[in-house]
Amino acid sequence: MLYLVGLGLADETDITVRGLEVVKKAERVYLEAYTSILLVEKEKLEAFYGRPVIVADRELVESGSDDILAGADKADVAFLVVGDPFGATTHTDLVLRARELGIETKNIPNASIMSGIGCTGLQLYNFGQTVSMVFFTETWKPSSFYDRIKENAQIGLHTLVLLDIKVKEQSLENMARGRKIYEPPRYMTVAQCASQMLEIEEERQEGVYTPDSLAVGAARVGAPDQKLVAGTLKELSEVEMGKPLHSLVLLGKRVHDLERDYIREFALDKAAFDANWAKSYASS
Ligand SMILES: C[S@@+](CC[C@H](N)C(=O)[O-])C[C@H]1O[C@@H](n2cnc3c(N)ncnc32)[C@H](O)[C@@H]1O
Repeated sequence: MLYLVGLGLADETDITVRGLEVVKKAERVYLEAYTSILLVEKEKLEAFYGRPVIVADRELVESGSDDILAGADKADVAFLVVGDPFGATTHTDLVLRARELGIETKNIPNASIMSGIGCTGLQLYNFGQTVSMVFFTETWKPSSFYDRIKENAQIGLHTLVLLDIKVKEQSLENMARGRKIYEPPRYMTVAQCASQMLEIEEERQEGVYTPDSLAVGAARVGAPDQKLVAGTLKELSEVEMGKPLHSLVLLGKRVHDLERDYIREFALDKAAFDANWAKSYASS
C-alpha cells in the first residue's frame, strides 16, 4: 500500500494518530520537501516518529517515482506531505502511477493552508480562486495571478495568494554547466508578495486593486508563533513578518462586518484601517 500522509502545518506533533500509526509500521518513509515545509527540522520528525525519513525532492518525486513505489505492492510505503496531501499540491500523478502498477493507495488527510487560513477570520466561503506568486526576475514577471484576482474581485471574493518556495534550485550557470550545486533555500515574504502585486498593477493599470487595498498577511499559520497582520498593500509591502512560511489574502469587497471586526484586531494602523474601510469597503 502507498499511504499519502498529511503532516499538518507546523511541527512534528501535528500528524494525526492514524498517520503516525502508518509511519511507525511502514517499510520506507518519504518526506516530500519541496512544495511546502514544516517549521521544524527533519531530525525532529525522525525522533518523534522513531523512524528514519528519506527526503524526496522534486527530482525524485517527478522522475524517480518508481523508486518510491518499489515493493509497495507487498509492503507499506508512507509518503509524507506537509499540510494535506491534496491541499494546494497535487500528488495525483504519484497516485496514478501507483494505480498503473497495481499498487493500492490510501490518503490520510490533515489541515492545509487552504483551511488553516480561516484563522484570519475571513470566511472560507467568501474566497475565490487561489493564486500563486513566484519570485520575479529582471526578465520574468509572470502576471497571470492578476487575471485570476480580477475575476475574484469582480464578484467581491477574497483571494488567497500562496508564495513561492525555492529549495534545491540551481543557478542558471550551474544548470548550464551541469553542476549539481544548489542555492540556499528561499521563501517569499508577505512584503515581497505585496510589492510584486503593486508592480503588476502599476504595469497593467486595470485598477483590480490599489496601494490602499486591504489585505491580511499570515505567517507560520498553526505554529505557536503564528503572526497575522492586516493593512493596505502599501503597508504590507514594508511589513516584517519573521520566519517562513508566509501567505497573503487580498480582501474582496463582499466583506462581512464580522470579518472586518476580526481582522481589525491585528491591523498595523487601526486609524488608517478605519479610513480605508470607510472609503472603499463600507458601502459594499
Ligand atoms: C503548495 S502550498 C501548500 C501545500 C500543502 N500541501 C498544504 O496543504 O498546505 C505552499 C504554500 O502555502 C503557504 N503555506 C503553507 N503552510 C503555511 C503556513 N503554515 N503558514 C503560512 N503559509 C503557509 C505558503 O505560501 C507556501 O509557500
